[in-house]
Amino acid sequence: MALSETFKVRNQSDDLMKLGEIYRTFVQKGIEADPRGKERIDAILEDSKKGLEKLDGIKKELADKDVAWNPYTDCRILYGDEDREIKSILAGIDITPGEIVLADRMADKGKKIDLVLAHHPHGIGTSRLDVVMKLQPEQWAKFGVPIAQAESAMAARIKEVHFATKPRNHTQTRDAAKLIDMPFMCAHTPADSVGYQFLKDYLEEKNPYSLGDLIDVLLEIPEYQEGEKVGAGPEILVGSSKGTCGDKFVFFTGGTSPGPKAIKILARAGISTIITMHLTDALKKECEEEGIYVVIAGHDSSDSIGMNLILDEIEKKGVEVHACSGFFRHKRS
Ligand SMILES: [Fe+2]
Repeated sequence: MALSETFKVRNQSDDLMKLGEIYRTFVQKGIEADPRGKERIDAILEDSKKGLEKLDGIKKELADKDVAWNPYTDCRILYGDEDREIKSILAGIDITPGEIVLADRMADKGKKIDLVLAHHPHGIGTSRLDVVMKLQPEQWAKFGVPIAQAESAMAARIKEVHFATKPRNHTQTRDAAKLIDMPFMCAHTPADSVGYQFLKDYLEEKNPYSLGDLIDVLLEIPEYQEGEKVGAGPEILVGSSKGTCGDKFVFFTGGTSPGPKAIKILARAGISTIITMHLTDALKKECEEEGIYVVIAGHDSSDSIGMNLILDEIEKKGVEVHACSGFFRHKRS
């Protein structure tokens, strides 16, 4: 199927949106915001197609076929037919069987839910989170890091994440959704890339000089105001408010945090300040040693930005969105 066909979107706004169309909207927005660029994504998809064609026997039968057109393993329909009509979504950052039951209970309160949407991945999205992590070395290369250094710095971490996530229970929440016939999907990297582009452009426009100024401009964003209210607002982790931002890197997309080796090569490429959702102690230590400032923007609030921007497009097509589980809904259009 040609990509243009894959991403065919309805023109008639009075039609109900279908689950498959919501899924494709997320993937399309993710591709548009992907720091690797469209051309590179096309090449990656071509490779994935060839990989699928090479498979045979049971491996071919069981393979995830969506990789042929969707480069994000952490964005998938986890349960539900693509033709299901969706009038309302219950969207959250972390979805557990609790939210699946909640969605079902909401019908009794007059709010029927047709789809539960998770930001953080489930199913193949967690077991193969390493696939989307490959975005990161290519993103660093755009900041001047030699690609071989970037790939080498990331290689061990990608393997570590793959084997760390493999033993998890990948289907617990999907199994709950299936039992009560509640459509369920997750959208992770597409939303994170949209959030990344938004914040990168925003900070370029606002151009804060000091880390203190950076915190102030972040606090002008409604999602961060919401984080601040619950004690999870933007905060300086490494550095002080008088420290100078210099060149900034928004560390929002590409699955999960990289290994500590990333910090040294980003420092060499000229990065002075990292803005991220969260940071491990090992990475914090590297930042201190390399002289990179770190601002923790906040986790759920940063995740909410990308989700909000894509859900704005989906709401325009007549779908109602309810927020739960750490997701703060803010409409921009
Ligand atoms: Fe997250």
